[in-house]
Amino acid sequence: MLQPFSAARRLEQVRYDIRGPLHARAGELEAEGHHITRLHIGNPALFGFEAPAHLRAAISARLPEAEAYCHQQGLAVAREAVAKVQADRGVIGAHPDQVYIGNGVSELIDLSLRAMIEPGDEVLVPAPDYPLWSAAVLLNGGRPVYYPCPPERDGLPDPEQLEALIGPRTRALVLINPNNPTGAVYPKELLQRLVQLAERFGLVIFSDEIYEGLTFDDAVFHPVAPLVRDTLCVTLSGLSKVHRACGYRAGWLAISGLLRPAREFLNGLNLLAALRLCSNVPAQWAVVAALQGPDTHTELVREGGRLQQSRAAVLEAVSSSSYLQCAPPQGAIYAFPGVDPLRYPEFDDQRFAMQLLEDKHILVVPGSSFNVPYRNHFRITLLPDAQVMHRALADIDSVLQQQLAPAKADAAA
Ligand SMILES: Cc1ncc(COP(=O)(O)O)c(C=O)c1O
Repeated sequence: MLQPFSAARRLEQVRYDIRGPLHARAGELEAEGHHITRLHIGNPALFGFEAPAHLRAAISARLPEAEAYCHQQGLAVAREAVAKVQADRGVIGAHPDQVYIGNGVSELIDLSLRAMIEPGDEVLVPAPDYPLWSAAVLLNGGRPVYYPCPPERDGLPDPEQLEALIGPRTRALVLINPNNPTGAVYPKELLQRLVQLAERFGLVIFSDEIYEGLTFDDAVFHPVAPLVRDTLCVTLSGLSKVHRACGYRAGWLAISGLLRPAREFLNGLNLLAALRLCSNVPAQWAVVAALQGPDTHTELVREGGRLQQSRAAVLEAVSSSSYLQCAPPQGAIYAFPGVDPLRYPEFDDQRFAMQLLEDKHILVVPGSSFNVPYRNHFRITLLPDAQVMHRALADIDSVLQQQLAPAKADAAA
């Protein structure tokens, strides 16, 4: 008879709170008939966004041709489309042979780290991070070493602080730009300094650019690959956010920079890609359409655009709140507000998120889920329209009032 058994030990350190216990509780409340405002996840279709029509049309038109496994790296046309984007950005040697199409960036993060990490290798990961990066490092036997990107520096890293974390086991530097959860967009000078560090210490750069092009106000997104000469650069992006088609599960990975010393790693990556046979083929036709077709995202982030208005609603609510503070997100689709830890040392992000869910049926992600040592933040997505954001932020403020006002009165007494 089957005896009770535990999950693999290596899962013990792995968390993904975006779909953790709060998310499970939200599901129970929904089953009881409550409507939950799901601010916890960047899932565009939940908030009325649709994939651009030319992506859908490409899949429909090519469906009959999408029934066989394709090359392990992806359809040649899709890889050519990615390589052209890279070449147009000035990436030297951009080539379809150096492109992999995957079932979302998620799969490619795991594949590429699995092909590289030896037990005990260290990977520099931003804190806060998108927690899949930490999970994939840990699951592959590595150790995430966090470089701080704190709210007081608008979510930007300090290259000197980062350099001090580099040791003999450090293998790679992960960048998430534009950043989830902070919305930071890395200035070119900062990227240049980080590239210099990676080149000097022989670190592979992994740049997760899934929010490329989603920038607000005057922020400009700079891809890192064109800046890299003397080390290996792995750029990741996909259809999920900019093209609002996360259900298609399509992403890509493009390798550039110094390839020769990485030959064995590249063979390993190819082997892992072959072991999973190939990426979802119908969605690869949408990759071609997305990269060759019209821009459908800039209108969302410019003045008056849907995401820009939601962002404005959040920032307005933050500025009129007695509790909240938030560095204005420069890009991506999230805000990462918090409360002043000195004024409200008793604030606990998990307790706050749970009360918000129980009392107001709003689901957010506690900041500590993003591998930071502080517990005074939470993440919300900017995807709902401005009206929903206004209402949600008013509810958030009233829960903060309940949790923090009595303590403040006590402190004053
Ligand atoms: C920074 C970042 N990287 C990767 C992913 C995963 O993307 P995909 O849907 O392509 O697997 C996400 C999803 O939210 C993300 O925020």
